[in-house]
Amino acid sequence: IDPTLDLEAEIARLKKEKNAIILAHYYQDGEIQDLADFVGDSLDLSRKAAETDADVIVFCGVRFMAEVAKILSPNKTVLLPDSKAGCSLEDSCQPEPFRKFREQHPDHVSITYINCSAEVKAASDIIVTSSNAAEIIDQIPADKPILWAPDRHLGAYLAKKTGRDMTLWNGSCIVHEQFSERELIRLQTQNPDAKVAAHPECHDGILKHADHIGSTRAILEYVINGPDQKYLIATEPHIIHQMEKAAPHKEFIPVPGADGSCACNNCPFMELNTLEKLYLCLVNNGPQIIMPEDLRVAAVKPLERMLEMSK
Ligand code: 13P
Ligand code: SF4
Repeated sequence: IDPTLDLEAEIARLKKEKNAIILAHYYQDGEIQDLADFVGDSLDLSRKAAETDADVIVFCGVRFMAEVAKILSPNKTVLLPDSKAGCSLEDSCQPEPFRKFREQHPDHVSITYINCSAEVKAASDIIVTSSNAAEIIDQIPADKPILWAPDRHLGAYLAKKTGRDMTLWNGSCIVHEQFSERELIRLQTQNPDAKVAAHPECHDGILKHADHIGSTRAILEYVINGPDQKYLIATEPHIIHQMEKAAPHKEFIPVPGADGSCACNNCPFMELNTLEKLYLCLVNNGPQIIMPEDLRVAAVKPLERMLEMSK
């Protein structure tokens, strides 16, 4: 790329030319969030992808999110700036072992976190995100046991919150698993009035200290609408960009990992997307999400169930 190129202007021009929309997750770099037409959590992004009338969706997030856009909007071109932008939760739950897991529990309803492949979605009954999981679980008849995949921490949190019998797959997010309880307690002693906001992908050592647990959007709303004070943030730190924009007078402190650094909590998959790759994917019309139609048709059912069951 020519170093004198005005990337932001070129992206804006290409977007107009191709009737494209840029969707970004809160864990993307601040400069990508600022350029996006819409920034949201997994649920908001999937709703936006389903309703847009753009011809091209540039998905600045990870592969499973871009796949959801393609599943819900099959006639649109869906671009992912870096095709290697995966997710450790998706990696932890391969389709074949997942099908066996289901076979071993034939009487269970299978509720699966959206952070999984299209194949695993296709083999599930209902998909959920962290913002609608409890609401959807509450609608399942009380006598029905639940099979949950892939995040064991989110699963354990939901089982406790809803009081349901849930059999958990043993997956986790490499980012949220790294938060250190000891570092969090150290920060709390230094900032005794600070509130703790955590994503439910965190382990219980973090969640038990949290004043608020929720999806990325719920965390954002909590700190923006909350009193003027310090907040300790236990989720991927790029979300702090939106917090500082919306509430510049409040202080947001990222909770570090065991080595005391916050950089280790950056999602290595989200980080693969850059402004340069965003520009190039618009120029090249790729990498694109391509999916066999039979897989898409199978995966859309549990996703539509999610959209019907959540407000
Ligand atoms: P949200 O649905 O809260 O945006 O979470 C997405 C994610 O990947 C969290 O790690
Ligand atoms: Fe996956 Fe964790 Fe990255 Fe979210 S933060 S995309 S769950 S690896």
